[in-house]
Amino acid sequence: MKVTSPDSLVARAGHRIDRVVYTAEQIDARVREMGAEISEAYEGTDDLLVLGLLKGSFIFLADLVRYIQIPLHVDFLVASSYGNAKVSSGKVSLVYDASASLKGRSVVLVEDIVDSGNTIARLLPELEARGPKSLEVCALLHKRLTKLPWEPRWVGFDCPEDFLVGYGLDYSENFRHLPFIVSLAED
Ligand code: IMP
Ligand code: MG
Repeated sequence: MKVTSPDSLVARAGHRIDRVVYTAEQIDARVREMGAEISEAYEGTDDLLVLGLLKGSFIFLADLVRYIQIPLHVDFLVASSYGNAKVSSGKVSLVYDASASLKGRSVVLVEDIVDSGNTIARLLPELEARGPKSLEVCALLHKRLTKLPWEPRWVGFDCPEDFLVGYGLDYSENFRHLPFIVSLAED
């Protein structure tokens, strides 16, 4: 197979890479560590539910669960907040709910990136109300923009404030499939 460079892949969608922020190798090494930490934290638990927040978490979650070495179930939620813009609308709605019950279970909500924190702030009370035994957030990236009233228990990387794409993260639905994370050059 012909290997396509990151630049030409992004150029075909009409954008330019500013810089590669995390390579596939860096991401893999960190996700492996996170899987090991979660395995250790929940060792002996038989009620772990890994709840992915779609769409952004789909690649991260797929890699993460393969590095978690204890029994678990997977389910998904879809929340929408961004639309097609680069700036958070502040409005978050649950457009698809998980079918799994959270009651009495150890729940880990997996999120691609914490930006304003609105998405999680909106979702956590709703999930908490379902009576999980515990509820923690695992985010691959965290922009650390403000002090949040809650913090994810697991964070892959404290990332730059730039708009990032790849490894699940999109800009107008593009670039989710890139195996690395890049910041896009301003138009
Ligand atoms: P928050 O509600 O502002 O924390 O944003 C959460 C959601 O916005 C994330 O799950 C992403 O889907 C999206 N988002 C925030 N920052 C970025 C970014 O830099 N690139 C792509 N998507 C982002
Ligand atoms: Mg998005």
